[in-house]
Amino acid sequence: MTNPFFGRDIISIRDVDRSQFELLFSFANELESSSYSKKKDIASGKILGTMFFEPSTRTRLSFEAAMLSIGGGQVGVQDPKTSSIEKGENLADTIRTMDCYVDVLVIRHPMEGAARFAAEIASKPVINAGTGSEEHPTQAMLDLYTIIKESGAIDGMKIGIIGDLKYGRAVHSLLYALARYKPKVYLISPASLSLRKEVIRDLEPTLSLSEHGTLEDVIEELDVLYVTRIQKERIPDPQEYEQLRGSYVVDSKILEKAKSNAIILHPLPRTSEIMPEVDKTKNARYFKQPYWGKLIRSALLGLILNDEINTKF
Ligand code: CP
Repeated sequence: MTNPFFGRDIISIRDVDRSQFELLFSFANELESSSYSKKKDIASGKILGTMFFEPSTRTRLSFEAAMLSIGGGQVGVQDPKTSSIEKGENLADTIRTMDCYVDVLVIRHPMEGAARFAAEIASKPVINAGTGSEEHPTQAMLDLYTIIKESGAIDGMKIGIIGDLKYGRAVHSLLYALARYKPKVYLISPASLSLRKEVIRDLEPTLSLSEHGTLEDVIEELDVLYVTRIQKERIPDPQEYEQLRGSYVVDSKILEKAKSNAIILHPLPRTSEIMPEVDKTKNARYFKQPYWGKLIRSALLGLILNDEINTKF
């Protein structure tokens, strides 16, 4: 089978179709069941370059762990203050330099369009690890994979997405990814954090969407509840953030109304939108998501770096 990921940039989830998701998930399944000695050949002799211009725990560490797990190495800029950016070097020159050292680049940046800009400069494949409020495509890949692994399917599922739908890049990528399937999606947010109208217009032809003001209105129907934090760092007015803080919360009381097999996801980090008491419930899967995330990123790196993945693996 032709590998559509080989040598490719991953900038927007909108460039990935359903058959490509299925290939990625199938390869992740193979990796999960494989021995380390087989896996370590996949990226042997290859180097991952990470460039993080915003804080990260899961995305950076899971990319690094993923690359090590398939036999590759990694170098990276974790904090621009410790690189020559601090001396005034621009982003383009930093990318050109990294491009000489590595086989694949992962970039996180506060500016929308930064990953596409990097892809235009670099000769090596570039993966978007989150740009502004725009997109976080590999988060969406791992979110879809988590739903499939933890709930069995995406088609026909009732999926609620609650929180900051305006500034959350994980939400935007997840919605465009879900549009490749046939779920029913419930958007739940305070009015001032609702999904932008242009995104709704984009999605409506292919995705069943409804908007709701409170979780109480829909909790009984949901198979999946995807919770997000308010993106404090992207809200221009600190007073607005203070007013919105605590405007929605998932606690054990609201879960009494949920289906017994409903699952709760969160891209993390969380702040106060899921109470710690929920962590121990059978519904909580947000600490399983990082596990599936490392596996998906291993599979993605493997597919980007190898044309004939089936013959090598
Ligand atoms: N989900 C996610 O992007 O987490 P980090 O910001 O910790 O990478």
